[in-house]
Amino acid sequence: MYQHLFLALFFKGVLSTHVQAKHVVAHAGGNVILPCSSISASDDIPTVEWSKEGLKPDVVYLYRDGCETFEMKNPDFEYRTNLVMREVQNGNVSLRISSVKPLDAGTYQCLRLWKNGTREMTKVELVVGL
Ligand SMILES: *[C@@H]1O[C@H](CO)[C@@H](O)[C@H](O)[C@H]1NC(C)=O
Ligand SMILES: *[C@@H]1O[C@H](CO)[C@@H](O)[C@H](O)[C@H]1NC(C)=O
Repeated sequence: MYQHLFLALFFKGVLSTHVQAKHVVAHAGGNVILPCSSISASDDIPTVEWSKEGLKPDVVYLYRDGCETFEMKNPDFEYRTNLVMREVQNGNVSLRISSVKPLDAGTYQCLRLWKNGTREMTKVELVVGL
């Protein structure tokens, strides 16, 4: 458990230094898609961890072994986040957030971990207008 958290933090820290965040604008009460997709599509679907910087717990969506895992999800995002399932097999693990709140604004991280050990991290900055 602790080892997993440590590794996750370590890799986030290393990879984030040379990643430029994308900006997405949403309106409060609406829905939004935070983009995240891999260059190479393959049959090997990665574990996907969407998290939000500064949130505790920071997980807003966790996808592992082909389905959502709820154990570490922040309750504020319950029922509000999902992947677009028909896109997942194409390597597109963009996050859909519904009923966007002003407090959802901030920096999100999309971490993908493949079975072969490859990791990729993408940052998305969400701006919420009223
Ligand atoms: C990923 O899926 C979302 C939701 O369907 C779509 O809006 C977006 O254009 C897709 N991105 C790519 C790179 O295909
Ligand atoms: C690991 O798998 C991913 C997805 O299939 C692929 O893009 C990547 O190149 C692979 N990395 C290695 C080191 O084989």
